[in-house]
Parts: sequence; C-alpha cells; structure tokens
Amino acid sequence: MTETMRGARPAIALVVAMGANRAIGRDGDLPWRLRSDMKFFRSVTMGKPIVMGRRTFESLPRVLDGRLNVVLTRDPTFSEPGVVAVASLEAALKAAKAWAAEEGADEIAVIGGEGVFAAVLPQVDRIYLTEVQAAPEADTWFPALEPGEWREVSREAFEAGPKDDHDFSIVVLERV
Ligand SMILES: NC(=O)c1ccc[n+]([C@@H]2O[C@H](COP(=O)([O-])OP(=O)(O)OC[C@H]3O[C@@H](n4cnc5c(N)ncnc54)[C@H](OP(=O)(O)O)[C@@H]3O)[C@@H](O)[C@H]2O)c1
Repeated sequence: MTETMRGARPAIALVVAMGANRAIGRDGDLPWRLRSDMKFFRSVTMGKPIVMGRRTFESLPRVLDGRLNVVLTRDPTFSEPGVVAVASLEAALKAAKAWAAEEGADEIAVIGGEGVFAAVLPQVDRIYLTEVQAAPEADTWFPALEPGEWREVSREAFEAGPKDDHDFSIVVLERV
C-alpha cells in the first residue's frame, strides 16, 4: 500500500514553463509555441488534480480531460461545466487533496499563473520547470526561488522540434 493510499498528504507540485527572463505569459497566452512541452505537461499532470487561476483557465482551449480542474476565482457567479470553482487557495488545495485521495493520485499539480504560483510556493514540494531558451516580451512572470531551498534532481535538454519555437530543458526541482 502506498503512502497516498494510507492517507498521507499528496505532494504539491508546480508545473511551469519559464523563459530565461522568468517570462511565463503575454496577453493571456503563452509567449511561445512549444508543442513538445505541451505533451510533457499533459503527461506530468494526467490523472492528477490541477489547480489554476481563472485567467489561466481561460487561456486553455477546454477543460483538461483526465484531471480534476480546480479554478480559483473571487467571482461568485463563475461556473463552468467540469470545473470546481473555489474562492481561496485553501479551498483549492482541500478539493484537490480530497480528489487525490479518492483517485489514488500522489501529487497535486498547480499550473499557474503568477499570483497562484507565488501564493502556493511555501507549500510546494516539487517543481517541474521547463526552461525555455528565449527571453520574450511578457506581462506575467515566475517568482524568484530562494537559493538553497531547491535542489535539481533531474535535467534533460531538448532541441526544438518542428512545432517548437525554441530549444528547452525540462528540470525537476525538489525542496531541500
Ligand atoms: N508558462 C506557464 O507555465 C504558464 C502557466 C500558467 C499561466 N501562464 C500564462 O499566465 C497568464 C495567466 O496568468 P495570470 O497570472 O495573469 O492569472 P491567473 O493566476 O491564471 O488568474 C488570476 C485570477 O485567478 C483568481 N485568483 C488568483 N488567486 C486567487 C485567490 N487566492 N483566491 C481567489 N481567486 C484567486 C482571480 O480570478 P477572478 O479575477 O476571476 O477573481 C485572479 O484574477 C496567461 O498569459 C497564461 O498563458 C503561463
């Protein structure tokens, strides 16, 4: 029996793609096109509860299948089929943990944007960080990480494929 099945808390992970200048978004969208990273995002979040801000939800083409979609909003009228809408980070993590326990998911994936990443960071165990080899114009940024708080446990470099704008590396960081 795994720790999760015994009721231990699931890990909290961030999943983020960041430019060399810490850019993550522009005009409500990603500042690049990286099909290969989209595939990685799908594989690393599949079967897990995902937590996001309302603007990140609106940047998605649809509710993401195979995952509990938890959306943070202060708008009490917000309602979307297939989405759990919550008004606080605490409520988001509570809904995500309950679903993870029911489904046997070992991780909650927090997928942005800027304020949500910053707010949850003190509770985060692992970061799936795509380092994009570009420094695009942006209006949304990934918060600075405290040096010494994170150790790199894996790193894999990829050259841009036919549907990728840039080379990139997928890095996994864990809290020291
Ligand atoms: N590169 C990446 O990995 C990545 C990841 C995610 C997003 N992005 C990009 O980032 C941009 C979107 O991010 P963003 O930072 O602008 O917005 P966001 O964090 O996705 O959404 C902000 C909204 O979430 C709600 N919210 C946030 N914190 C809350 C809290 N504690 N309690 C209740 N509601 C809360 C509020 O919604 P209401 O206004 O409805 O109250 C707030 O206006 C887009 O450009 C997107 O493409 C990039």
